[in-house]
Amino acid sequence: MKIILAPMEGVVDYAMRDLLTASGHYDLCITEFVRVVDQVYRAPYFHKICPELRQNGTTRSGTPVRVQLLGQHPDWMAENAVVAVGLGSPGIDINFGCPAKTVNRNKGGAVLLQEPETLYKIVKRVREAVPEPHAVSVKMRLGYETTDLALDCARAIEDAGASMLTIHARTKAEGYRPPAHWHLIHDIRQQVTIPLVANGDIWSRQDAEKCRRVSGCDDIMIGRGALCLPNLVTVIREDAAPMPWAGVCDLLIQYAAFARDIPARGYLPSRLKQWVRYLKRQYGQADILFENIKRHRQLDDIITIIAREI
Ligand SMILES: Cc1cc2nc3c(=O)[nH]c(=O)nc-3n(C[C@H](O)[C@H](O)[C@H](O)COP(=O)(O)O)c2cc1C
Repeated sequence: MKIILAPMEGVVDYAMRDLLTASGHYDLCITEFVRVVDQVYRAPYFHKICPELRQNGTTRSGTPVRVQLLGQHPDWMAENAVVAVGLGSPGIDINFGCPAKTVNRNKGGAVLLQEPETLYKIVKRVREAVPEPHAVSVKMRLGYETTDLALDCARAIEDAGASMLTIHARTKAEGYRPPAHWHLIHDIRQQVTIPLVANGDIWSRQDAEKCRRVSGCDDIMIGRGALCLPNLVTVIREDAAPMPWAGVCDLLIQYAAFARDIPARGYLPSRLKQWVRYLKRQYGQADILFENIKRHRQLDDIITIIAREI
């Protein structure tokens, strides 16, 4: 079984990838998306989204980190893919799942699931440009408004030569509303041979087992669940006990310390609050902690309050 850490724009950044991959064994991470419109980005931009490129494309614990691109123009996508791989990204992931209005209005992300032939052109062009053995993987939802084209999309992606397809088992219209339709991944699996990865609503070991059984996929991707329970990957793999609350608070403090030196550190107070909000799902203590930090704006004040929990 492979377990992949999901890309989450504005949440799973360099520091988060580092901490989560140090807390358990992931096979792969995908970066937040690089939005490609009509230019080729230079190294500094890729390094900003994926500082791991300076570390051979891996987190400090050695997990490969693949750059994700989002866009609609095959040539611009291909040119950016070549740069990212040249900088050390172990392959490229292409995002056909993003539901954001601004992204979709500009014909990027999930809106393209209405045009399987466009998916084909993008993936094929990127695949031709990126040298083997680098992987070109794709992440999609089941559709835009309906699931009618899900199989056509998967086939287009397979025919274009993608090496792996992750399916977030919902349409764009469903947003993040439960349930995830794992059984529809199973239906697709009957028709394609490309390795499929099941994604959506895996919050526990039981969910992982059920998702693998229902979808028929060996491999899974976990996103929000890994933020709610930072050692979810080890809980799934080894039936480990959930990380104790003191350990979680220690991770929160490490996250702040880790990200402190980067120029955009102004975002840290809101990132910490955001993470504590995710933690509420698993830890009753996070409710109280959130109430205690929510009005604080200074990072040091927030850290002091979190440190009292340890
Ligand atoms: C805040 C947020 C940001 C996300 N950013 C991305 C992204 O940059 N690229 C992408 O392919 N998916 C993105 N996703 C989708 C997740 O990768 C994943 O498919 C989704 O959260 C379902 O999996 P989960 O139930 O395990 O969280 C994002 C999801 C959330 C909640």
